[in-house]
Amino acid sequence: TTISPLIAGNWKMNGVSQSLDELTELANLLTTGEAPRAVVVICPPATLVAAVAAQGASSGIMAGGQDCHANASGAHTGDVSAYMLADAGAQFVIVGHSERRADHGETDDQVRLKAEAAIGAGLKPIICVGETEAQRDAGQAESVVAAQLAASIPDGAGQHEVIVAYEPIWAIGTGRTPSNDDIAQMHASIRARLVDRFGPRGNEFRILYGGSLKPVNAREILAVENVNGGLVGGASLLAKDFYTIISAV
Ligand code: G3H
Repeated sequence: TTISPLIAGNWKMNGVSQSLDELTELANLLTTGEAPRAVVVICPPATLVAAVAAQGASSGIMAGGQDCHANASGAHTGDVSAYMLADAGAQFVIVGHSERRADHGETDDQVRLKAEAAIGAGLKPIICVGETEAQRDAGQAESVVAAQLAASIPDGAGQHEVIVAYEPIWAIGTGRTPSNDDIAQMHASIRARLVDRFGPRGNEFRILYGGSLKPVNAREILAVENVNGGLVGGASLLAKDFYTIISAV
């Protein structure tokens, strides 16, 4: 099976209405240059999801949320549900990002419930996993990620479009990346777990790499076996850089 690559930009807590100028520039690059091979997604702060969805539509840019609550509605001040993101025009939502796991103590069980809520709302969840530096140094990277996958991916995922993002925590925002061999080994391990659990369907999940993906390293990392695209933080904030990464697949 050939999987079409997907490049998602995670703006994190960056972006005000003025940042939509970058979106305009990205749309111009995408529509005037050679048609991108990759599916292009921008996950802005919740305040900009509707604007990104509306403004991106004509250039094929899709919008995603950065998190969602596991419930559809209710007394959860400050939270946004998957249904609300879908209602705003999102088609994707990141769940279980390591910053959510760290800042909000999200557990694998909560991440799984969020992924289920996303699927229920018609969104494609991008489920994040990844080890700390200490875990990698202790030789536990694959077992940590395997445990996260087992508990964070819903059982029903095989019937839906679910995306896995491997983000080694020590590579996020640090300018450091694993070697291509280490990326290949981890992505092969994730692929094997997905096939173990979901059968041949496991070959169809996209597995994204995230963590200091930049214009300078995108081409080689995105060419690694079982890397079906990227989840880009810092380098997604500038249209020019993000477009270079999109064009690298
Ligand atoms: O979701 C994106 C990642 O956390 C990667 O962030 O590209 O700034 O390292 P970064």
